[in-house]
Amino acid sequence: MVEAEIYLDAAATTPPRQDVIEAVVCAQQEAWGNPSSLHNTGVKAAELLERCRWKLAQRFAVAPDQLIFTSGATESVHLAILGSAASHAPGRIVVSGVEHPAVFAAADQLKNKGWSVVFWPVDAMGLIRLEFMEELLDEPTRMVSLIAAQSEVGALQPTALVGRACRDRGITFHSDATQLIPQGCPEFNRFHSDLISLSAHKFQGPRGIGLLIRDSSHPLVPVQGGGGQEFGLRSGTEALALIAGMAQALSVLPAYHLSGDTIPPGSGPDVRRQRDVLLEALLEIPGLSLLGPNVDQRSPNHIAVLVGSAEGQPIPARAMVRELARRGVACSSGSACRSGQRQDSSVLTAMNIPEPWRQSGLRFTLGPWLDDKTLMQVPDHVVAAQRALS
Ligand SMILES: Cc1ncc(COP(=O)(O)O)c(C=O)c1O
Repeated sequence: MVEAEIYLDAAATTPPRQDVIEAVVCAQQEAWGNPSSLHNTGVKAAELLERCRWKLAQRFAVAPDQLIFTSGATESVHLAILGSAASHAPGRIVVSGVEHPAVFAAADQLKNKGWSVVFWPVDAMGLIRLEFMEELLDEPTRMVSLIAAQSEVGALQPTALVGRACRDRGITFHSDATQLIPQGCPEFNRFHSDLISLSAHKFQGPRGIGLLIRDSSHPLVPVQGGGGQEFGLRSGTEALALIAGMAQALSVLPAYHLSGDTIPPGSGPDVRRQRDVLLEALLEIPGLSLLGPNVDQRSPNHIAVLVGSAEGQPIPARAMVRELARRGVACSSGSACRSGQRQDSSVLTAMNIPEPWRQSGLRFTLGPWLDDKTLMQVPDHVVAAQRALS
């Protein structure tokens, strides 16, 4: 039985901060009313809801009515894509080949409504190939969705650049910023996006709460009906305790100015330095090689490697994850396992990684809960796990 794991899976989820837990408990105890109710209990909840909305809006430098509370990025992405499509005549949606499955699923639903879906090719680093931009943004493209920071390989996409190009052409642009926001909170207008999606549990907030932020002039149609909450765009009684936790979690993230080539500061003051040190140590291990871009185009908490034996034979990353878990290290692999069949990672396939290696992508994602001493144990555990599987 492992006692304390070295938790290196921030891209999957993050441990809630103590102040976040306190904000959740406090809201649940003291503002448990329905914000739509007219009595004092309801008004107390409505006041807290609006305080949280205002606090969150300030962090993104937007008006409070540009924020829509959702159950997380999966829902935000669906509302962004399906809710925007409803205000367009059917056309083409372009999504990168390395999106989260939520984006693929939402885009796929548009096919029933007469839309076509086209994938923006990526290079061997997982970065979109800009030489295709003119062609892809030509008619009949009406919408583009681009992941701001890729979860599996850490690639930071040029969202501001694509956003500006879309805006010039009147194309709706949505950016899935779920993995970017935890590394620092830029102003919304820096994305040059009509819409961005995010999830609180990726930045030490509670699970089951997220945001869709929209440009105030962007037309959006609700995808579910009901009580008309969230300006009529997302019905359902607001998850106030979770919203309070999200507002608290976001309040401690560093601010920065996003532009075409800025690397976010990182989820804690030491995260980027710690990542660099650990990455260097891991790349000294024979059989491991960098997967995804260099640190100048990579999310600051992100490490991804292809893992093979010292002799250069690919090792399935899922087996490495299990071996490392037995040794007290929590990390993750990209390849899925469905119906007992191991599957290649779709991200590594889109990157054209040679076939035998498509199940060998191993990811370590750091957060501010880690210290140097703990991290320096990781390479030894990786070597032990690699030997056990060679
Ligand atoms: C890039 C990206 N988008 C969307 C999601 C979905 O977030 P959630 O599961 O919180 O809805 C995730 C979660 O892993 C993600 O990494």
